[in-house]
Amino acid sequence: MARNAFEWTETPQFPPTHYVDTAIYTNDQLFREEQQKIFNKCWIIACHESELPNAFDYRTFNHPGGAPLIVVRGEDMQIRSFYNICPHRGNTLLYDPVGNAKRITCIFHAWSFNTTGDCIDISRGKQGYQERFGCEKAGLREVKTGVACGGFVWVNTDDDCCSLKEYIGDAMELLDGHLDAPLEVFHYHKAIVNTNYKLWHDTNSEFYHDYMHYFNRITGMIQPGYFDRKYTGYPNGHASVGSMAIKYDAYEGSKQRGVGWPGLAPGGWVLIDMFPGMTYNLRTSVLRMDTAIPLGPNKLLIEFRGLGLKSDTPEERAERVRDHNQIWGPFGRNLHEDLLGVHGQGLAMREGTDSKWVIHGREENMTIHDEGGMRHFYAEWSKRMGRLASAPFDETTLT
Ligand code: FES
Ligand SMILES: [Fe+2]
Repeated sequence: MARNAFEWTETPQFPPTHYVDTAIYTNDQLFREEQQKIFNKCWIIACHESELPNAFDYRTFNHPGGAPLIVVRGEDMQIRSFYNICPHRGNTLLYDPVGNAKRITCIFHAWSFNTTGDCIDISRGKQGYQERFGCEKAGLREVKTGVACGGFVWVNTDDDCCSLKEYIGDAMELLDGHLDAPLEVFHYHKAIVNTNYKLWHDTNSEFYHDYMHYFNRITGMIQPGYFDRKYTGYPNGHASVGSMAIKYDAYEGSKQRGVGWPGLAPGGWVLIDMFPGMTYNLRTSVLRMDTAIPLGPNKLLIEFRGLGLKSDTPEERAERVRDHNQIWGPFGRNLHEDLLGVHGQGLAMREGTDSKWVIHGREENMTIHDEGGMRHFYAEWSKRMGRLASAPFDETTLT
């Protein structure tokens, strides 16, 4: 072993807030614990209201806590969520990812439900159950749902959770005034990566990795103001990074942006990380939303949405789509670099290797290359899990 390779064998010489045990990225039992203590307790973005424009439109959503959900707009235009599980014998109700259903009928024994979750028909109900059981006792299991912060649909599977407003707190203040006009999703794609969800959220919580992005080095890092940007941590594990003017014209092939965003200075940028895995990323003409949906400790589904204004003219929309795709689309540049970053990290942290610690130790007065954003996340993670993220992993401490 190289003489100075201490990190493979020794606990880092940092405070316990400044590193984590790699088991938190790989261990199956820890992941089950995260589902219970984090995903099933936090508000999670399921989709955007513009994806359900009409009455009876629905989307299915695999909640990261494990419950399959239906998000549906009722006749009253309210958006509600339910388990996508029939109360009769537990069959899946809706199979398509999107659709429109005035009535949701289970394929198994044909019980039917409306979009407010009421049972409206039990086939041969009277014959089989007489007066003992009927529709009034057979509704769908509703899940708390709210629409907020730019028209996103948030769900919480915990009936006793705090309100969505309380959960968000002041964390969205940098986007105040920028999300008031109705928005519309114009781009959606997903990536399934062999990594842990936290590694993805980490890339959105530290910008030291701008070294990986040619585009960001040119348009950001070498420009005045880049190192003035500051991280701000908020209650519940959320964090934001302040704006700066991005010099898009410094990137070869870029042209001056023709469309802007309400209230945002030209070239402005705001990034807000919402615990445990959602990121608002507003740059000049486009809002990008990432939602990290873990499928297991070592498998992650990331949903990417690009949004413009609902009021866009076709020309404005085309420009936003171009701006979005150049950097963030599936054929753009930045996203793949980020995916390579977390994929490589994920491989290096496989259980059974000697990789034991990840250091979050950079301190630069909470400016852009400070790793305080990650430390803020792991402080919340540790609080909710009842264990320090840096605590040496020991299966006997699992609850
Ligand atoms: S399981 Fe749905 S009607 Fe029987
Ligand atoms: Fe990145």
